[in-house]
Amino acid sequence: MKVLVTGAAGFIGGQLCHALWKRGDTVIGIDNFSYGNLDNLHFDDHDFAADVLRMDIRDREELPALFEREHFDVVYNIAGIAPLPDCQSDPVEAVSVNTMGLVNLLELCRRTGVKHLVQASTNAMYENETEFPTVEDKFNPPTLIYPNTKYCGEQFCRSFADTYNMNVTCLRFANVYGPHIDCLRKQPPFVGYMIRELYYDRVPEFHSDGNQRRDYIYVDDLIDLALRVTDRKGFDAVNVSSNTNYSVRELYAIACRLMHKDIEAKYWDTAHYWAKYPELYGGAYGIRPEILDHEVNKYSLCDNAHAKELYGWQPQVSIEEGLARVIEAECAMLAARDAAAAKE
Ligand SMILES: NC(=O)c1ccc[n+]([C@@H]2O[C@H](COP(=O)([O-])OP(=O)(O)OC[C@H]3O[C@@H](n4cnc5c(N)ncnc54)[C@H](O)[C@@H]3O)[C@@H](O)[C@H]2O)c1
Repeated sequence: MKVLVTGAAGFIGGQLCHALWKRGDTVIGIDNFSYGNLDNLHFDDHDFAADVLRMDIRDREELPALFEREHFDVVYNIAGIAPLPDCQSDPVEAVSVNTMGLVNLLELCRRTGVKHLVQASTNAMYENETEFPTVEDKFNPPTLIYPNTKYCGEQFCRSFADTYNMNVTCLRFANVYGPHIDCLRKQPPFVGYMIRELYYDRVPEFHSDGNQRRDYIYVDDLIDLALRVTDRKGFDAVNVSSNTNYSVRELYAIACRLMHKDIEAKYWDTAHYWAKYPELYGGAYGIRPEILDHEVNKYSLCDNAHAKELYGWQPQVSIEEGLARVIEAECAMLAARDAAAAKE
């Protein structure tokens, strides 16, 4: 099969390219490198750097030419602006990439006969849901910008599937963790941040009381499901979750044990949560404190019965095993980075 992976230089996209290549597919990646980096494309058995084109999913000249030339069987749209505060700070760019970029791809898939598009969606769109575990077809619509960009994107996926008989699957990822998780960006994901701070023997700063619970999925389990869904006809939305959630305190305790550290974390109030984004608090209308409280204390737990029943999928990696693998990879990456910096 010939497959296009967008966001190929990102945490999930790079590993998806690798899994597809190992299966024997011909893989072409694109990325605009706004967040991704080439390190995510180096694997022991293959280097994808040469297979990834620097291109934007919103491109309306070179990207159509690529689709016309390559005749992709499957497109995985993994590109996106993932950090919540980045989307909140620049909503126009967030909608432009996460929603309009997806529509650009849907239209190119339609014109060139792509057999299946798989969209990286998110369980963040369940932010206002109160029933757990949350099922795919019954939830209150979201409030914040990031989940709305993905929620609107899903409406367009359904529109293209219904209007043109296209096959589109939206995978609603829970919090994804695994090697290559970006621990260096302005607002790193919780798992990457926690490990980085422990690696440097610093006191990590968390928010609220640490009892807030979220569900997680290990990247290999996510990719396993992503490879299974492409035979399905029509539109589908699927939760990609372990259906088990953990509190901040529980995950931190596991990480401390695995890394042999004994450091007490600091817990801030929620107002401090997006301190690196003062623009959200300023302006004529600052972000409402209740919205921040809700986001920080949000409980998430997604039902994964649909993925199991329809696709015969079963997550394989326990949180202990998964965290151990991330810790090993992240510590090795930080050590190599520090050694390179010391040489300069
Ligand atoms: N990581 C998670 O926990 C999680 C959870 C739910 C959903 N998702 C979604 O999964 C996808 C991948 O997440 P990730 O954690 O790998 O993020 P990431 O930031 O590591 O990867 C995203 C990649 O997309 C690229 N990109 C951004 N805008 C682009 C554009 N306009 N054109 C081409 N490339 C562009 C970035 O450079 C980056 O390499 C995102 O769409 C994200 O919203 C992630």
